Formats: sequence, C-alpha cells, structure tokens
Amino acid sequence: MAHSSVHLLFLSFLLLFSSLSHSQSDQFCDAGIGYSESTCGISSSKLLIKGGTVVNAHHQQIADVYVEDGIIVAVQPNIKVPDDVTLLDAAGKYVMPGDENRKGGIDPHTHLAMEFMGTETIDDYFSGQAAALAGGTTMHIDFVIPVNGSLVAGFEAYKKKAKKSCMDYGFHMAITKWDESVSREMEIMVKEKGINSFKFFMAYKGSLMINDELLLQGFERCKSLGALAMVHAENGDAVFEGQKRMIELGITGPEGHALSRPAVLEGEATARAIRLAKFVNTPLYVVHVMSIDAMDEIAKARKSDFLTGITFFMLQGRRYVMSPPIREAGHDKALQAALSTGVLQLVGTDHCVFNSTQKAFGIDDFRKIPNGVNGIEERMHLVWDTMVESGQISVSGYVRITSTECARIFNIYPRKGAILAGSDADIIIFNPNSSFEISASSHHSRTDTNVYEGRKGKGKVEVTIVGGRVVWKDDELRVVPGSGKYIDMPPFSYLFNGIDKADAMYRTSLKAPVKRFKSKS
Ligand code: URP
Ligand code: ZN
Ligand code: ZN
Repeated sequence: MAHSSVHLLFLSFLLLFSSLSHSQSDQFCDAGIGYSESTCGISSSKLLIKGGTVVNAHHQQIADVYVEDGIIVAVQPNIKVPDDVTLLDAAGKYVMPGDENRKGGIDPHTHLAMEFMGTETIDDYFSGQAAALAGGTTMHIDFVIPVNGSLVAGFEAYKKKAKKSCMDYGFHMAITKWDESVSREMEIMVKEKGINSFKFFMAYKGSLMINDELLLQGFERCKSLGALAMVHAENGDAVFEGQKRMIELGITGPEGHALSRPAVLEGEATARAIRLAKFVNTPLYVVHVMSIDAMDEIAKARKSDFLTGITFFMLQGRRYVMSPPIREAGHDKALQAALSTGVLQLVGTDHCVFNSTQKAFGIDDFRKIPNGVNGIEERMHLVWDTMVESGQISVSGYVRITSTECARIFNIYPRKGAILAGSDADIIIFNPNSSFEISASSHHSRTDTNVYEGRKGKGKVEVTIVGGRVVWKDDELRVVPGSGKYIDMPPFSYLFNGIDKADAMYRTSLKAPVKRFKSKS
C-alpha cells in the first residue's frame, strides 16, 4: 500500500464532481468553494436520539442518547430535554458506534490517494471518506507509504492529502526498506506523530517487498517502540515464479492473478511471519486474511496474542484483482466461521480502488492490473448481512468486530469504541428491518465499478452522525471537507502486556547451568 502525489484541493473537487451525477454532487457541501465549516448537514449543538437499542460490545439496552456540542452527555431511558433539541427517533432500530475512534465503525485498512503500480487510487481523502460515512463508517486507518524511503516525508505527504478529510482518520506506516534512518524515523513516528503500527510487505517483489532479515529487524524495532507489526503475508518470491509460469503458459488474463499466487503461498508466509514474530516475541497483525491456509496458521497461533484482519470477497475478473486474491468457494465460509469464533477478530476492507481505465492497464498482462477493490462504503452492511442476519454473530459481536476490537488493538479504547457518556458523538442508527442494494450507480466512491454490484441484503445504516452532526440521513450525504481530524494512537497497547515478563523468563532460562566435560584427548 507507495506514494505521495498531493492534489491541489480545489482541483480534487472538480475531479470529484466530474465523476458524479448531478444529484450525487448536490450531496456534498462547499464543493469547489473551500473547506470551511458551513451549514452543511443537520447541524445542531443538541441532539436527542430517542428510544433506540443502544449497542456496545458487551451490553445493549433500550435508551435515549443525548448529545451536546459533539459529545455524548447521557445514555439512559427517558431523558428530558429542552425544546431547542433536534430529535431523532430510533425506536425499533439500533444505535451503534459509527466508527471505532470516536464511537463508531472504524475501518482499519484503507488506501486513499495512494500511488501504487504506476497509478493512484481514485478515491482521495474526501471521496473515500464520504463513501465511508454513507455506509456508517466514521473513522479509518490509512497506510502511509514512505517517500523516497523517508517515513517523515511520507507522513507529511499524507497529512497534506488528508487536509480535505470529512471524518477522523489515523495512519499506519509501511516499511519498505531497512537502514539506520528508517529505524530512527520509526521512533519519530511513534513518539511524535501518533503512529503505533507498521506494515511489512512479504509480497510485491521489486517494489514494496522486504526479506526475512529486514522483517526480523523491523519486528525487533516495533517491539522496542511498543508498536504493532503488521504483515501482508504472501511469499513474494514464489508469487514472482508463479507469474512467470502463467505467462509462459500463455495465461495473461485476470485469471492468471489468482492462479499465480495460490493459497498455499499465503499460508506459507503467514506461518513464517507468525514464527518470526514468536522468535522476537512481539505481537503480530496479519492483514487481509483471504484463505483457509492462512487462517489455519492463525488458529494454531491464537493461543498467544496474535491478531488478524479479514476481508470478504468471492469474485473473478479484472476489476476483482487484489492481493492476496479472492479465493474459490469454501474459503469465505471458513473465514466467516473463524470470525464468529474469535480466531479472526475484526473486519477491514482494504479499500483501494481504481476505475476501469486504470484496471485496463493490465488488459494484456494480469501483472499490470493495479491491485485493489472497494469496500469502505459496503463494510457495515455486508458484515451485518453476512454475519448477523445469518446468525453467525450477535449484534454486540457486530459492534465488537466493526468497532471496539479495532479501538483496543490500536490503543484508543475506551476513549473510542463504545457509546458512553463522555464519548465523542460518532453514532449510527441502523434499521435491521430495512434493506440495502449495492450498485456503482448509487455508491459514493469515485470508481465506476463495484465488486459487490447487485448484492442485496437486510439492514441499513439510516443515519450517520459525526461529531454531533448528522451527515447521512434519508439517503442524503451532507459532509464538510476539512472537518475530519487526525487521531494520535499511542504505543504499548494491551497486546504488549506481559511481554517483559516473558522476555525475562527466557533470559533466565538461558543462564541455567550447563556442565561441560573436557575431552580426554
Ligand atoms: O490488492 C491490494 N490489497 N491492494 C492494496 C495493497 C495491499 O497489499 O494492501
Ligand atoms: Zn497488503
Ligand atoms: Zn491494503
């Protein structure tokens, strides 16, 4: 997930609107005017959400939620309020955290405005976030790619890209090479820039991929800084060989993508990363788990504190090309079961979109198709329909895997990830009796296709509230560019509890006396 390239903000909006129908463009505030706060959205300093079922990860109750100046003031039944309060009726509906950071759905894995495979993802920090809000996600964590090997330059470039944000966001940092300056800059990221996770790519040979030696050094550095090591787990050398094999066989179309990188390569890299993390004794987060092979390795390792994410896909064709690839039927059901039993803990989307023109770069050679698909707008609906409607997870479990677990892992809980008095008012009202249908003709992303085209299901995010402002209601989006905030994520999350002790025990065990006998010769 390399890249800088900062759009002029004004230009970005022109581009944004040129890709939207007139009715869609009406839904964005201040288009082309600037990023100032405006009368956009239903903006009231006082809001009462009446009579809904308020759901947290471990508890649910029928209650009112009272919000003042962007903060939840009270959560209890029958709250009496003055006349000047905006009322939202939530009877028969669920009131849930919209993103993990400020109490709601957080998407822990996105790529907005990322330069990748010779092009740049078409959703930027405004269009991608607008799509997220329409789908009930109120915060996301995006991947910064170093610029010319510099983490600091990468961070600054992404902060510029994110100036147009309309919801809160945080950053992970990619590590794509190793030397003293990278090691030094990792410390700056953690101690000064609010980043507490680093991603290592075991694939994408020749661009982002790193070898095992670097992986080990990176893991060690993460551990010393209290930062979470994340891996893209595929054996990049073998994928490279697999790609050559497909080309030699004359398989140049998109089907060559998945064929060149089978699940066994994901399983191998996952197992290797887990073992190396165990050797270093540091927590690990395996991003985009796409196969039974990887999941089985994680299940074995789950006795210790290893972590995973999951993405949902099951499709083929150029527009579906992503890595690790979408697997054949069977893997999806197994991953869902792993999510429901806690082997996998949370759901990210890896939202990384390119339009049909960009995807066509690989028309004659699958290796040139930019990897990535959409999901930021669809996540909350798909997880509900796939996991809750099917009875695989409870409503509280849904809040846990879409919000609370992410807040805990990235160390922003309990400030985030629950609907409680004192929390930021990032909230969704979800109607389980309504329904959704996904289509590129109505989604809010700038891409012209949708990998979930035509997918229907039960449940609908009817209202999204960010910072006490209603930004999504009656299928209308009212968002304010520039209103999103960068969220600092401190190091040493709960995952690091007990690591010192285990290290000390290990060192002690090394000092056990060993009797040696001199040889007689
Ligand atoms: O295909 C994908 N996943 N594209 C984004 C880069 C990455 O590996 O996350
Ligand atoms: Zn990846
Ligand atoms: Zn990704």
